Amino acid sequence: MGRLQNKIAIVTGAAQGMGEAISRRFVAEGARVALCDINLDATEKLVAELGEGAIAARLDVSDNDDWLRVVALARSSFGCVNILVNNAGITGPTKGLLDLDEEDFLKVCSVNQTGVFLGMRAVVPSMLEDGGGAIVNISSISGLLANYGTNNAAYAASKFAVRGLTKFAAIEFAERNIRVNSVHPGYTRTPMLTASLNDEQIEMAAKNIPSKRVCEPEEIASLVVFLASDEAPYITGNEHIIDGGYTIV
Ligand SMILES: NC(=O)c1ccc[n+]([C@@H]2O[C@H](COP(=O)([O-])OP(=O)(O)OC[C@H]3O[C@@H](n4cnc5c(N)ncnc54)[C@H](O)[C@@H]3O)[C@@H](O)[C@H]2O)c1
Repeated sequence: MGRLQNKIAIVTGAAQGMGEAISRRFVAEGARVALCDINLDATEKLVAELGEGAIAARLDVSDNDDWLRVVALARSSFGCVNILVNNAGITGPTKGLLDLDEEDFLKVCSVNQTGVFLGMRAVVPSMLEDGGGAIVNISSISGLLANYGTNNAAYAASKFAVRGLTKFAAIEFAERNIRVNSVHPGYTRTPMLTASLNDEQIEMAAKNIPSKRVCEPEEIASLVVFLASDEAPYITGNEHIIDGGYTIV
């Protein structure tokens, strides 16, 4: 029996990278999954591969109407929602405070921060009706270290906010059997990373990581499966760092 047997999940940013790896593992562990992304074509291709345990939906996480539609779709397709993984994120421009336009700042926050708020607000009522659930919010080591060399004020602000929202929601819903945790990955080999760093730059970055390598998306998926599963009933409101030791030093 899979570790997520009989669970119903919504995963955002599911078309590629970490969201793809998480969705693949969830289906392999027995969950039925609504894969959601702004890139519907890529999501539909993945769903066709994953088979009947998966459905695809177009979702812009910063749009409340999209969220209401997706939750209704997941419930009508599968019956309820037990798990939400708020994974979708963007980096925005690599700029410090003084060079950053307000528009760019708000865009990054609308996806990375408001998206997590809207997602939890849309899904929690359904979880409460069904007796509880588990939420995993993907932050970053940028939500722990203000600037580890990336010089991206908007990204750091939004990822710190994810950590705060996670803890707030964990307290608000702990008694009602909803667990909320944040995951803080370090450098992870996804299209987001390879779009900004070439192979040589990734190798250079790895030299500063105690484990001497970057993370693979499947390793993030393993942590998310654990946090979302019934194996973690007493874990809530915590920051789960997965960075090969990067934040130790
Ligand atoms: N890759 C890394 O090194 C790294 C490290 C720490 C944290 N993270 C975080 O992990 C998460 C996943 O990152 P990734 O590396 O897989 O990124 P990625 O860019 O490879 O994939 C992100 C996915 O999110 C989707 N997306 C973007 N905006 C969206 C929106 N408004 N609504 C719905 N979907 C949207 C994209 O279409 C894409 O499929 C992000 O929150 C990111 O900030 C990544």
